[in-house]
Amino acid sequence: MAQRPLITARDLEGVESPVIPRGAILTPLARDLLRKRGIEPEVCGRPAAASDPLVVGNWKSHKTLPEARAFAEELRAAARPGGVALVICPPHTALATLADALRGVAEVGSQDISAHGEGAHTGEVAARHLVDAGCRFAIVGHSERRHAGETDALVGRKLRRALAAGLRPILCVGETAEERRAGRAESVVSRQLEVLGGLEPARLEQVLVAYEPRWAIGSGQTPTPDEVESMLAHASAALARGADPAAAQRVPVLYGGSVKPSNAAELLGLPSCGGALVGGAALKVASFLGIARAAPGASG
Ligand code: 13P
Repeated sequence: MAQRPLITARDLEGVESPVIPRGAILTPLARDLLRKRGIEPEVCGRPAAASDPLVVGNWKSHKTLPEARAFAEELRAAARPGGVALVICPPHTALATLADALRGVAEVGSQDISAHGEGAHTGEVAARHLVDAGCRFAIVGHSERRHAGETDALVGRKLRRALAAGLRPILCVGETAEERRAGRAESVVSRQLEVLGGLEPARLEQVLVAYEPRWAIGSGQTPTPDEVESMLAHASAALARGADPAAAQRVPVLYGGSVKPSNAAELLGLPSCGGALVGGAALKVASFLGIARAAPGASG
């Protein structure tokens, strides 16, 4: 999996009660600073390799707390493949419970994040609270949120909030059916990726991109493997043009949209595919793990 967020002494300056994301790496100065304040930095487990594919489950508006707990118990008890990193993005209400219940098994991410910091923003969930709940990832710009009116500018603000808090944003991009028919799929994705412009390389490396053609979500339809590969490669090339090429190369580009165990090997095996963002098939342990087992390099 992915690199862990790096916390430096500068990040802690002037922050009264810092929240250290689970799994974060602290510089020696940051560690000393925390100890002086009587805070013992959490000892973290060995992370999965940075190059491992990721299989991210987006539960959308599904599962109550008892259902989320039952999923976690089943996943914990199941034979899980090695060499693939698992992430679950449940409804906000289940974040903290799942972060505890899945410790050492899967990471937890949010499905959205507020563009604001803490404050008078009724109904918004700020980055600080997501970190506090145990999140490591935050989906931004999911097509269902764009459909509800989110603009690229808003998505960009959310992405920066996530990064500033040490969360890894999963930036969703993808065209509608009409845009594809009009031959605009590539230009839409390039435009949506422009929100990454101006990020420092160290920040860019924390980002994941998920190409999710809107028309493939929940429809059972997927683009052909050639079409997916072409769009994933297009996204990687667009990233490299707009940023530090070495950092851009380390940004995994996932595919999402009707991924299931039966098509996972073909999609995850594409040369430019860094993993999958899964909706419906992530609601059941058997199908979620069926997809994870199909990832190249997955063992067991
Ligand atoms: P489906 O896998 O149900 O098509 O959903 C994809 C998705 O929107 C994941 O974010």
